[in-house]
Amino acid sequence: MRHLLVTGAAGFIGANFVRYWLERRPDDDVLGLDALTYAGNRASLPPDGHPGFRFVHADILDEAAIERLMQAHAIDTIVHFAAESHVDRSIHGPDAFVRTNIVGTHALLKVARRVWLDGGDPGPRRFHHVSTDEVFGSLGPADPRFTEATPFAPNSPYAASKAAADHLVRSYHQTFGLPVTTTNCSNNYGPYQFPEKLIPLMLVNALEGRPLPVYGDGGNVRDWLFVTDHCRAIELALDHGRAGETYAVGGHNEWTNIAIVRLLCRLLDESFGANPALRRRFARCPAARGDSCERLIAFVADRLGHDRRYAIDAAKAERALGFVPQETFESGIGKTITWYLEHESWWRSVMDGSYRAWVEQHYGRESA
Ligand code: NAD
Ligand code: DAU
Repeated sequence: MRHLLVTGAAGFIGANFVRYWLERRPDDDVLGLDALTYAGNRASLPPDGHPGFRFVHADILDEAAIERLMQAHAIDTIVHFAAESHVDRSIHGPDAFVRTNIVGTHALLKVARRVWLDGGDPGPRRFHHVSTDEVFGSLGPADPRFTEATPFAPNSPYAASKAAADHLVRSYHQTFGLPVTTTNCSNNYGPYQFPEKLIPLMLVNALEGRPLPVYGDGGNVRDWLFVTDHCRAIELALDHGRAGETYAVGGHNEWTNIAIVRLLCRLLDESFGANPALRRRFARCPAARGDSCERLIAFVADRLGHDRRYAIDAAKAERALGFVPQETFESGIGKTITWYLEHESWWRSVMDGSYRAWVEQHYGRESA
């Protein structure tokens, strides 16, 4: 039986991970921790009283609070998701990324070291750090995919802050013997993703009849993985990963952005064609009038420092952990679209307030 502390539990992947874990490991205790920034939503998590789960509202920089929680809940496993995660925001305001992703990760490492190591051998423990393929930089069209051996070359303040955190995590293993593992994963998609990221942004904008802003020429490539497959990879790293190791995780599923946007438009058009209730619920969507969502596509100024291509070679994770994605892109995208159509109140509520103000300030009213 494990006692897990999941940081960033109310964010996209954290919430999916908590749900995944509670379903598969009902005997474990999960303490979900989150500072509830604009990206964190308590409503994405199970309610209070759900067996095996507790939520605590706290900041990872609050070392005293984390230490109290680790002692009180006999935490033996930390799964560290908490981060500022949006590249565009890191371009407009990098400070929060340095604070949470670097200083916050270091605060957690310090507390884990104090609680687990300073009193002697505490038994099996694991600090799992959830990182990104963005630490490796950008690939050309014919370059081999990223592996664990690819040198770090982060290009955005977000990627640089994650790379710094990865190095700190490694150093706490090398220097102090903290039992750490790290996964560097490619782009995730699925339920509960905040609609500032490509796939949910395009879905909700199309439903609302707003422009679909494609950066640059739309030819940038990402390697997409359904979020539950990422959760499974982390579970495998906790169960079978070796302390000190890193694992590159991806979907073998490269798409250009414009191809993704066109696919989403086509699938929404088909959903509206098959379901008259959608035409009434989302009257501003072009598909409600028999038109195509594609007419909303708008090519806009490129992201600064925009990485051209990410792609992961997950051979080590497959060999050492037995990781193989289970969701196809077709099935995962289908589930994602259905989820957003069925959870309109969730995305409307998370987009109220600070997010809309931020987008209007940086991109103007049209795309908000
Ligand atoms: P997210 O932005 O949806 O969630 C981040 C969560 O962290 C939010 O709930 C937020 O409130 C919380 N948080 C932020 N600062 C905090 C602080 N100081 N203390 C406590 N909580 C804080 O992000 P996500 O997409 O779920 O990503 C989770 C992790 O996975 C991140 O570390 C990210 O770098 C990594 N990752 C994401 C992807 C992806 O495609 N989304 C891919 C690879 C790796
Ligand atoms: O690769 C893993 C990373 O994937 C994670 O570490 C990050 O936390 C996560 O946000 C994601 O980063 P990206 O920058 O790749 O994701 P985003 O959804 O912001 O953008 C995906 C691509 O789509 C990227 O090439 C930029 C483009 N884009 C994005 C938005 C929001 C657009 O063309 N238009 C948009 O409006």
